[in-house]
Amino acid sequence: TTPKLLAFAGSLRRDSFNKKLVKIAAAGAEAAGAKVTYVDLKDYPMPIYDQDWFDQHGFPESVLQLKGLMKDHHGFLIASPEYNSSISGALKNMIDWTSRPEEGEAPLSLTCFKGKTAAIMATSPGGLGGLRGLNHVRSILENIGVLVIPDQKAIPGAYQAFDEAGNLVDEKTHDAIASIAAKLADVTAKLQTA
Ligand code: FNR
Repeated sequence: TTPKLLAFAGSLRRDSFNKKLVKIAAAGAEAAGAKVTYVDLKDYPMPIYDQDWFDQHGFPESVLQLKGLMKDHHGFLIASPEYNSSISGALKNMIDWTSRPEEGEAPLSLTCFKGKTAAIMATSPGGLGGLRGLNHVRSILENIGVLVIPDQKAIPGAYQAFDEAGNLVDEKTHDAIASIAAKLADVTAKLQTA
C-alpha cells in the first residue's frame, strides 16, 4: 500500500524556516511514491496541557482533528526548531496533547504514535542547525513507540540556506533532505507489508 505521511514543522511562526524545510521533504517523499499531507500547527491552536483544564473541557477540537489526521497516516515528516538546545514548546505540547488517550482507549495505547515511523530534521540560523534539539525529539518519539529512521539532517545558517522561494540553495543539502524523505517512504511502505 502507498505510505501515507503527515508532514509538519515544530514551529508556529509564519515565515518559519522549518516549515520551508519540511515542505521540501514532503516533495521528496511524494517523488518517492508516498502520499503526503502537510499541516501547519498554527492552524491547530491548543492551550498548554493542564490536567485541570482537560478534566473540565476535554480535548480541544483542534487536538481531535490532529489526532484523527495522525491516526490516518503511517508516518511523520517532522522539521523542528531547536529552542534552548531542545525541542520547541509547540511541538512538545502537541505531542503531549495527542499522546493522551481518548475515551475508550487504554491509558498507554498511544494510538497516534505507536507503530508509526518518522524522519526528523531541523534548521536554525545557528552553527549546529538544531542538531541538539533533534536528539531530544528523537528520544521523545522513540519513547512513545515511533520508529525514527537513523537518517536525519540539521541545516545551519538558515538565513543563507534558503532562497526567497523557500528552496534550499545548496543542491547537495536539498538532495540529502529528499533522500531522507525517500528513505522514510520506503521504510514505511515495507512496514505496511511486513
Ligand atoms: C531559539 N533559537 C535557537 N537556535 C539554535 O540553534 N539553538 C537554540 O538553542 C535556540 N534557542 C532558541 C530559543 C528560543 C526561545 C527561540 C525563540 C529561538 C533560534 C531559532 O533557531 C530561530 O528562531 C529559528 O528561526 C526558529 O525556527 P523557525 O521558526 O524559523 O522554524
